Amino acid sequence: MMLLAFKRMVRQIFQPPGTELSDTKPAQSNARRILLGLEGNLNRIFGNDLNPLYHLGALGFYFFWVVVVSGAYIYAFYKTGIELSFPSVEYITNEQWYLGGIMRSLHRYASDALVVVLVLHLLREFVLGRYRGARWFAWITGVPLIWLIFAAGINGYWMVWDRLAQYSTIASVEWLDWLPIFSEPMSRSFVTREVLNDRFFSLISFAHVTVPLIILFLLWVHIMRISKPVVNPGKGLAAGMLLALLVLSVIEPALSQGPADMAIEPRNINIDWFYMFIFPLLDSWTAGQVWALVIGFSLLLAVLPWLPSKLKQIPVAEVNLSDCSGCRLCVADCPYEAVVMRPRSDGMHFLEEAVVVPDRCVSCGICVGACPASNPFRGEKKYMSGIEMPSMKMFDLRATMKNELAKLVGDVRILLVGCEKAADVGRLRSTTVAALSLPCTAMLPPSFIEFVLHEQLVDGVMITGCREYDCYHRLGVLWTQQRLNAKREPRLRSRAERERIKSYWAAAPDIKNLKSELESFRTTLAGSRQKLQLREGLK
Ligand code: HEM
Ligand code: SF4
Ligand code: SF4
Repeated sequence: MMLLAFKRMVRQIFQPPGTELSDTKPAQSNARRILLGLEGNLNRIFGNDLNPLYHLGALGFYFFWVVVVSGAYIYAFYKTGIELSFPSVEYITNEQWYLGGIMRSLHRYASDALVVVLVLHLLREFVLGRYRGARWFAWITGVPLIWLIFAAGINGYWMVWDRLAQYSTIASVEWLDWLPIFSEPMSRSFVTREVLNDRFFSLISFAHVTVPLIILFLLWVHIMRISKPVVNPGKGLAAGMLLALLVLSVIEPALSQGPADMAIEPRNINIDWFYMFIFPLLDSWTAGQVWALVIGFSLLLAVLPWLPSKLKQIPVAEVNLSDCSGCRLCVADCPYEAVVMRPRSDGMHFLEEAVVVPDRCVSCGICVGACPASNPFRGEKKYMSGIEMPSMKMFDLRATMKNELAKLVGDVRILLVGCEKAADVGRLRSTTVAALSLPCTAMLPPSFIEFVLHEQLVDGVMITGCREYDCYHRLGVLWTQQRLNAKREPRLRSRAERERIKSYWAAAPDIKNLKSELESFRTTLAGSRQKLQLREGLK
């Protein structure tokens, strides 16, 4: 029984060449291939740090703030009232074109950009499969955000009270009338101008301030379970985006479309397709059908994380109190705030102990890589780490690794460590290369690298995983880099010769590059070996 489990684990981590861990439907994996190809090209053009697709959530926050700041400026000059709104917006646009006009255009274009990044962010998380399991929370809190962002945008257009506002107000109330909420149809009141008084304008401008506040609150909830969320796109990307918005604002300033007049039906209106694509649909579909479409779509989005999938859920991390010193390293490294500390419960002389919150754990194993007790130099045959992945315990990993590395032949033996979500290291396995695939590269404690080099089990260690700035488990690549560069605990000690360690980050389509990097590493290692032999011969 034990032997069978051990064999299964060996198969799981040292995958035979050519096998792939597939957790998605074919259509989704095709979309993933296309996305990774596109992102690879963008990386070549902009560099990983400026690739907008790697920073969509942060860009969402950024555009939100541009909307808030530009909106606050416009609001200072905006006058609330049926006769006042349109002229005040005209004043801002024309008399104050150099600042007010630019601010109005920025407000509009940043709102449009917000919709673009919102849709791309949602699609990207879906295509990459980052919406299931413990990630359900970020996903589900994203759904009301879509509604609120659209509501705020459409509401904003009403404030101008031009012919587009007239068109979108009437279309909105006619659509809302279908719902059995109001005793009397609202659209009738609009035509008779009963509700079109200053109070209506006060109401919509109040809503235009309140809804973004609710959005901000929900955004905070959205990233609540994410450790160190990236809410800032970085200076270069932020400056580039602002410049693009400014150029667009100067070339194509946002203008009104003539004052609203309820006596004349608005025709030949230019709508903002980012926010109002639903209105033209109301011309050919009934209000009920359009409601069915948007509610059905929202419900589908909401239940998506729970729809059946082929994804095998790996058991979540577990703490072994006997080996936990309460050092908090696992808390600092977990990307999902899934480890918390509590007062010691076992009478040991430490102050605190780590506890895993199972609902938040995505089973990435990064905490195991952080734990000082994961050290393979430990003497015990069956040692335990402070925190372990039940499917891949540290003593098993050490035993398996020793076993596999002992089979390597040749002058230059390499251990290639990778991540299940990135380039498939199993495809590069050979008689001279052992390929170790982990749930995340950061699951490997640096002491394992020291161990295999110190015990002369290999001549070099190559580390790979998801592309930089695009770690499937968010922080795995960054933590690995910092640990290898001795900038983060647990650090790779100086006794590990740096020239025998190489890292190269590669997603699935980058397998050829990874292969050639591996070959060049082999050549470097062979060169240093020859030099060493020569030096030893001279002695
Ligand atoms: C404009 C609105 C939104 C903004 C500003 C936003 C922003 C963010 C940010 C900053 C993160 C953390 C990124 C990181 O550091 O790894 C995030 C994560 C996430 N977002 Fe959004 N988001 C928005 C809307 C949505 C929507 C509509 C959905 C889907 C329905 C969604 C799904 C997710 C998911 C699933 C994650 C977690 C990814 C992971 O666990 O690795 N977001 N979002
Ligand atoms: S495996 Fe560890 S690091 Fe990863 S989410 Fe779970 S507790 Fe956090
Ligand atoms: S890293 Fe290990 S020893 Fe430190 S608190 Fe976490 S489980 Fe305990």
